[in-house]
Amino acid sequence: MAQETIAILGGTGDLGTGLAIRWSRAGHRIIIGSRTLEKAQAAVTALADISPDTPAEAMENADAAKAGDVVVLTVPFAHQLSTLETVKTHLSGKILIDVTVPLMPPKVGTVQLPAEGSAGKRAQDFLGAEVKVVSAFQNIAADLLQDPELRIECDVLVTGNDKEARQRVIELASEAGMNGWHAGPIANSAAAEALTSILIQINRQGKISHSGIKIVGQDAH
Ligand SMILES: NC(=O)c1ccc[n+]([C@@H]2O[C@H](COP(=O)([O-])OP(=O)(O)OC[C@H]3O[C@@H](n4cnc5c(N)ncnc54)[C@H](OP(=O)(O)O)[C@@H]3O)[C@@H](O)[C@H]2O)c1
Repeated sequence: MAQETIAILGGTGDLGTGLAIRWSRAGHRIIIGSRTLEKAQAAVTALADISPDTPAEAMENADAAKAGDVVVLTVPFAHQLSTLETVKTHLSGKILIDVTVPLMPPKVGTVQLPAEGSAGKRAQDFLGAEVKVVSAFQNIAADLLQDPELRIECDVLVTGNDKEARQRVIELASEAGMNGWHAGPIANSAAAEALTSILIQINRQGKISHSGIKIVGQDAH
């Protein structure tokens, strides 16, 4: 796959850092977006130690969204829409990958989906049809992504209304070392988002620390 510019908004955080490490090692140009340039620059410096051959760039979120071919939103649910508001004008015609899980502390082990049905659907409603929102990576723990040598067993459910955009994100999941599946329209992101609270509950039992889902049955015929 050709090199793309992937802008990660809130890329200073746990999940954004993990995706940046994986996609930068896959050869993409990474832009780390933040509310402040200084914080983005610190994250880029840290990334340079891990992926010296593919240096990332630091920008404020709006500049990052403008520069990205693909834009990824990696901020907490409470700040999903306020962050999108600051970049909305730069997203027209682009893929916006939304990783948001609508966790509402303190009850993060309880499924609490928003009134729109899911965080992914909420982003699509907010941005309008000219932005191709694709929801993915809700069930992957950030610390697994941050270890670039680790083989991640967990699959990725990929939902979105635009089939080509969904396919591109499945490829990006593969480039990050995971198996992605077409899981239908953006409304279906409710299932992946809800699963995260289930996985948190399973982890709490303490027998495994990184529970995940795997789609089986592909060799049945
Ligand atoms: N962590 C995981 O294992 C995991 C797994 C699957 C999905 N997710 C989802 O991924 C998203 C990010 O999770 P995370 O754990 O990476 O979050 P995080 O580290 O707590 O925060 C990510 C970034 O969000 C930005 N942010 C924080 N407060 C903000 C505010 N008030 N307004 C705008 N931006 C703000 C910050 O960037 P700046 O300060 O640089 O602007 C921060 O570095 C969440 O929606 C989460 O549900 C996380």
